[in-house]
Amino acid sequence: MENIKSYVQQHKDRFINELIELLKIPSVSADTAYSQDVIDTAEAVKESLSQAGCDLVEICDTPGYPIIYGEKIIDPNLPTVLVYGHYDVQPPDPLELWTSPPFEPVIKTTEIHPEGAIFARGACDDKGQMFMHVKALEYMVRNNELPCNVKFMIEGEEEVGSASLAWFVERNQEKLKNDVILISDTGMISNQQPSITTGLRGLSYVEVEVTGPNRDLHSGLYGGAVANPINILAKMIASLHDEDNHITIPGFYDKVQELSAEERAEMAKAPFSLEKYKNALNIADVYGEKGYVTNERNSIRPTLDVNGIWGGYTGEGAKTVIASKAFAKISMRLVPNQDWEEITALFTKHFTSIAPAGVTVKVTPHHGGQGYVTPIDSIGYQAANKAYTETFGVPAIPVRSGGSIPIVALFEKELKSKTILMGFGLDSDAIHSPNEHFGIFNYLKGIETIPLFYKYFVELSK
Ligand code: BES
Ligand code: MN
Ligand code: MN
Repeated sequence: MENIKSYVQQHKDRFINELIELLKIPSVSADTAYSQDVIDTAEAVKESLSQAGCDLVEICDTPGYPIIYGEKIIDPNLPTVLVYGHYDVQPPDPLELWTSPPFEPVIKTTEIHPEGAIFARGACDDKGQMFMHVKALEYMVRNNELPCNVKFMIEGEEEVGSASLAWFVERNQEKLKNDVILISDTGMISNQQPSITTGLRGLSYVEVEVTGPNRDLHSGLYGGAVANPINILAKMIASLHDEDNHITIPGFYDKVQELSAEERAEMAKAPFSLEKYKNALNIADVYGEKGYVTNERNSIRPTLDVNGIWGGYTGEGAKTVIASKAFAKISMRLVPNQDWEEITALFTKHFTSIAPAGVTVKVTPHHGGQGYVTPIDSIGYQAANKAYTETFGVPAIPVRSGGSIPIVALFEKELKSKTILMGFGLDSDAIHSPNEHFGIFNYLKGIETIPLFYKYFVELSK
């Protein structure tokens, strides 16, 4: 496969321009104002898969946004790789913090990406990473190097919980039959040190509403005499962690899988500089659960974070008021063996129980999903590692990520196959943040590495 390197060099401008066109469509799944754009993006992805050489491409309707299914079956006796990705993106706000508009992609250089990076919402998460697979397929088909069957399943609701995908997978088990699932929707350590994600955290996401008096009150006439829902909400939230930053919800840690000392020692070998980490975020110190280091806190330990909090008067100037209601959105990242629905129930019970008599509390679960861990002795992992070793010159390091792709656990349950998480993004690529970007190096390296995964997966499967 010496060809792939030269193919990428020869076609890189077109690869970049095609991705830029895809990034121009604002496929924000969370906001219905963009629904036509989400649908248009599905159409564009379908077109790209047809052009890349799929024999069959369909836009599959669901109760929500469509799923694009594509396939190229060369021989039913050969293994089948199922590629998953998502074409929806996070909302771009706050817009004023972008240095260029989120849906007008431009290439800029950064310290980490001296060869340039594409700045746009979805550049890394996940249009850019998903599109690497489309271009890798194009290469394999045009050069007669596709060594097995391939199926694509690209969804448009990942950023809002993948409800329609769960629906689709349950109804299409035969169609989606595969030997391994391949996803690029995670990151790696650095452009010099590739890594393969071996774990994802689960998620429980809830919204809470605290109601006090039946109307907003004058904060002078009533202040001090009735429970202020915002004060109470702040107090309740603060009580969810103790002084060691352990979560105080009874039963929260009961099923947490603890890692052995050996496993933790293995994790500590991954290159990491606390100084660089702090400098990159401009913080004087890190903060988290006692007894664990940063790379453990954000991967093998469960967490609870407020994602948004509101209520009362937030406009210009001052208004003296005690609001009737206060709200917050809270996420809990979970680790293997914690069941997200059970955790949601534990949270609801506890949060309701700690409210003083002067307020009522409503907890509304949003979405969630189970965590995931994958062994490193599987054929899929070995194939991925060989592929990275060849293109980066060093073997990949297994890393458990703190992010969530809840559908991965569902794939294992419904389709009975393992997922290999071959990510090419970097933590500094600002996914979900203003100025999201994806390195040109990373994009092209991904396109170069993916065909090697196919090659080694088929070789090792024999
Ligand atoms: N691609 C991310 C998840 C991710 C990023 C995992 C980097 C590991 C490394 C995905 O699009 C995402 O944002 N997932 C959400 C969960 C979803 C249910 C909204 C998340 O992790 O917040
Ligand atoms: Mn993603
Ligand atoms: Mn995301």
